[in-house]
Amino acid sequence: MLTVTTKSDLRQALQKIRLSDEKIGLVPTMGNLHEGHLRLVRAALAERQYTVATIFVNPLQFGKNEDLKNYPRSLESDKSLLEETGCDLLFAPDNSEMYGSAGSIKTSTIVPSLAQNHCGKTRPKHFEGVATVVTKLFNLILPHHAYFGLKDFQQYRIIEQLIADLDFTIQLHGLPIVREDSGLALSSRNSNLSSKQRLIAPALFQQLQQTAKLIQQGNQEFRKVEKDAKHSLKAKGMMPDYFNICDARSLELASHNDKELVILAAAFLGDVRLIDNVTLKI
Ligand code: PAF
Repeated sequence: MLTVTTKSDLRQALQKIRLSDEKIGLVPTMGNLHEGHLRLVRAALAERQYTVATIFVNPLQFGKNEDLKNYPRSLESDKSLLEETGCDLLFAPDNSEMYGSAGSIKTSTIVPSLAQNHCGKTRPKHFEGVATVVTKLFNLILPHHAYFGLKDFQQYRIIEQLIADLDFTIQLHGLPIVREDSGLALSSRNSNLSSKQRLIAPALFQQLQQTAKLIQQGNQEFRKVEKDAKHSLKAKGMMPDYFNICDARSLELASHNDKELVILAAAFLGDVRLIDNVTLKI
């Protein structure tokens, strides 16, 4: 695997690939890789794409009081994991390579209607930061395919919209959430959970499943169901941030006419913020 840290080395490496017939597959990450990320890489490799992973803990998507400093970083072991999968290229820039000297970036990508609720309510600039860095990565790498995990469902929808609105000719792939046996969705942040918190954390997915079951059984009192779910999470020791039953396309709170739903949830365990979701058709 070739590792590059500068945009010029990245462009140079990819220029050769673009002259061949090979398609480029991109897997953007913030590192501390787990099986969920590796499946994205393997999916690109399985399609015989020249596979580019990126590792960049993007400061633009963290709020002032968020966990940028404590975000788990493990570049050396990430590199080994990527090597093992057969990934072709790793782009791992630092902040000044990505954004120039502090604060010099003046442009941002915003997808307002999809970004203002759910995670966007608690983390107001988060999706602007995500969409901006993803736009930059798309422009730098010019991939034919891009792979994202569906654990970040809202992020996925925003990137889908961004690709359509800004005319990127990129095929987007959303891969299913990878879970531990306990049901807990794999996340880089799980490594910040204490052993006690790890025992509580699966409650989030259990609650999502129970709520999905209630809806499948015909309960359409969505706002009451959401409220009950939050109470139940609190009783189990989690501090719910939101628990919203939504239309899976618009991400607006669902009404009785909506048939394709997603239940989006986020909850804190101490300082660790976990997110998860389930989709369902009624
Ligand atoms: O999902 C993530 O890890 C990040 O939000 C992403 C897409 C790599 C942008 O920094």
